[in-house]
Amino acid sequence: MNVLVGVSGGVAAYKAAHLVRELGRRGHAVRVVMTEAATRFIGPVTFTGLTGAPPVVDLWDARYAGEVHVELAAWADALVVAPATANLLARAASGVADDALTATILCFDGPRLFAPAMHARMWAQPATRRNAARLAEDGAILVGPVEGALASGEVGLGRMAEPEAIADAVERLLRRDLVGRTVVVSAGGTCEDLDPVRFLGNRSTGRMGYAIAERAAARGARAILVTGPSALATPPGAERVDVRSARDMEAAIGRVRAEADAIVMAAAVADYRPAALATDKIAKSDGPLTLELVRNPDILAGLGAWRAGPRPVLVGFALETRDVLERARAKRAKKRVDLVVANRAADALGTTTNRAIFVDDDGDETLPELDKRALADRILDWIGARLGQLGRPGAGN
Ligand SMILES: Cc1cc2nc3c(=O)[nH]c(=O)nc-3n(C[C@H](O)[C@H](O)[C@H](O)COP(=O)(O)O)c2cc1C
Repeated sequence: MNVLVGVSGGVAAYKAAHLVRELGRRGHAVRVVMTEAATRFIGPVTFTGLTGAPPVVDLWDARYAGEVHVELAAWADALVVAPATANLLARAASGVADDALTATILCFDGPRLFAPAMHARMWAQPATRRNAARLAEDGAILVGPVEGALASGEVGLGRMAEPEAIADAVERLLRRDLVGRTVVVSAGGTCEDLDPVRFLGNRSTGRMGYAIAERAAARGARAILVTGPSALATPPGAERVDVRSARDMEAAIGRVRAEADAIVMAAAVADYRPAALATDKIAKSDGPLTLELVRNPDILAGLGAWRAGPRPVLVGFALETRDVLERARAKRAKKRVDLVVANRAADALGTTTNRAIFVDDDGDETLPELDKRALADRILDWIGARLGQLGRPGAGN
């Protein structure tokens, strides 16, 4: 793969040389683009020696023919900025393109990764956190910073992740291990209409399911995203099916389930719907209003009962406010689900990160707090491993 390494001006810039060497050692072609400030911390000639070509520093350098940022962005399969200074995060988050690195970042539409490195107080600033969150929201992966010794001699959260960890993250981002697989993902909350203007809904934003569909598509799968109403953009490469109610969702999944190697039910599906849909807006009266609700289909249990053999791999979510693990175990057994991803409502709803517990045949594993994309990758890793054990469809095992 072609990996473009961006280096900005912090003390950790010397570690970018290790990163470049590590990526090269792993068989990737590497080119480097530096900010002017980065050249104060590490000599460009170091990267010339490591990559065989001088790094790009100056957008206006007459040695480059034409638009060097366009050419670099077209060449790269992935872009990793390490170290990413507070200044660089701010410029990238707001779309500034006033030097070779930021112009290239803006020109690049593939997977991008930032490894922030700065003094702990710079990282703790609301402005920096906002910029980092904005980049993550726009699709970038952030690796680190980690807790440790800082250049100032203090210890704190701001140290750049180690080059090996960054190289691992780059490789995870570039994985194409799900080529030939179809992953169906449900996402978002369902809406159960009461009358022409009102509905019963829930607080799900769809972020978790969208992240799974995004990462599945990026890893080479055909990703079919069956989504309740959501403000989120369709992930690149995913096929999107919009639905409204639980029954719509059941029907939409029913149409594609036979094509699936894996089905991930990340949607927050309403358990109940109004017994009747009023044709006119329900008028208010002085007394209380009683709504009669009836059970919706249990889509996950239906899928568990339907699949004849080991396929498709079935993943469900258990969102609970208490007794998370016990309820997740019970759900897995009752609904014949392969993996239950259990989480607390407070950790999962409306957030960009999640703290989850995997409950499977082997027991349970508590994961650290992860960005929803990173959690999506962990779920897809689990699915990939299970599909690997089952073998390819038609392989006779
Ligand atoms: C000795 C020294 C060390 C610095 N280390 C860092 C750092 O680790 N992280 C950071 O965000 N800024 C650091 N800075 C500040 C940046 O170099 C400065 O914000 C610069 O404008 C960054 O430019 P760039 O983002 O275009 O590379 C340091 C400055 C100096 C003088």
